[in-house]
Amino acid sequence: MKVIKSKVTENKSIANRIFKLSSEFSGEINPGQFFMIKTLDNSFLLPRPISVNDVNKNEVTFLYRTEGTGTTKISTMRPGDELQLFGPLGNGFDVNKLQGKIAVVGGGIGIAPLLYLIKQLGKQADAYLGFKDCVYSVDEFEKYAGSMLIVTENGSEGIKGYVTDYIDYSKYDAVVTCGPEIMMSKIMNSCRENNVKCYVSLERRMACGMGVCLGCTVMTKSGNKRACKDGPVFSSEELI
Ligand SMILES: Cc1cc2nc3c(=O)[nH]c(=O)nc-3n(C[C@H](O)[C@H](O)[C@H](O)COP(=O)(O)OP(=O)(O)OC[C@H]3O[C@@H](n4cnc5c(N)ncnc54)[C@H](O)[C@@H]3O)c2cc1C
Ligand code: FES
Repeated sequence: MKVIKSKVTENKSIANRIFKLSSEFSGEINPGQFFMIKTLDNSFLLPRPISVNDVNKNEVTFLYRTEGTGTTKISTMRPGDELQLFGPLGNGFDVNKLQGKIAVVGGGIGIAPLLYLIKQLGKQADAYLGFKDCVYSVDEFEKYAGSMLIVTENGSEGIKGYVTDYIDYSKYDAVVTCGPEIMMSKIMNSCRENNVKCYVSLERRMACGMGVCLGCTVMTKSGNKRACKDGPVFSSEELI
């Protein structure tokens, strides 16, 4: 993990409030890890946690949705501008534990950390992507996934409904998910019923990102853990 000033190579809008930013970085990154990102003009004080969406030679890519001050400011960065990147942080997904047939389930902007994972898993992984209405980044998943299912709540693209209703859990050795808590909670319950391993990437508000402030506590069966340092990926068996 390191703090660097990194030059933005691309930052483009790909859907309503959804941006893709690439920036210079070289070093090892596990899928599911994240960076604390800050602009250099001090327009916001605390860096914001954003997951690694993809990694290419000397470049890391983030997929993010504008929510407030920080992400809106980041969305104005242009190629050549410099950002502060602190990371990679967190545990990420343990690809060695993901053996056999894997379902990768993303909801909305929760798909962000799953692309780099599926790129590593390849055809052993099926992608299930759920969106409210507007669909993005699915062609990239299509390149690597064994199969793909797109579900939108309003039926504007793919099948209409909730992505959780279209997964045959009994087909899988493990399920990996990131998205709204309600979606992940349904998936954890279904995995429990079907005796399938389940790994979730949790989101908490984060101030330091390195395990010091204890602002991102997650209750687990073995006590309180820090989402930034012990997570953000947890096995559902651990979570209360
Ligand atoms: C480990 C981790 C990885 C993340 N990866 C991504 C990613 O890949 N792409 C992406 O778009 N977002 C990601 N997020 C969420 C992202 O960090 C927040 O959206 C961002 O910090 C909001 O900052 P802001 O200054 O734009 O909004 P603020 O002005 O700080 O807040 C605007 C609104 O967003 C809410 N909010 C802020 N932070 C969070 C949070 N962490 N969780 C839930 N609600 C929040 C606030 O309550 C408020 O309603 C991730 C969060 C974590 C913890
Ligand atoms: S954000 Fe400070 S301990 Fe996790």
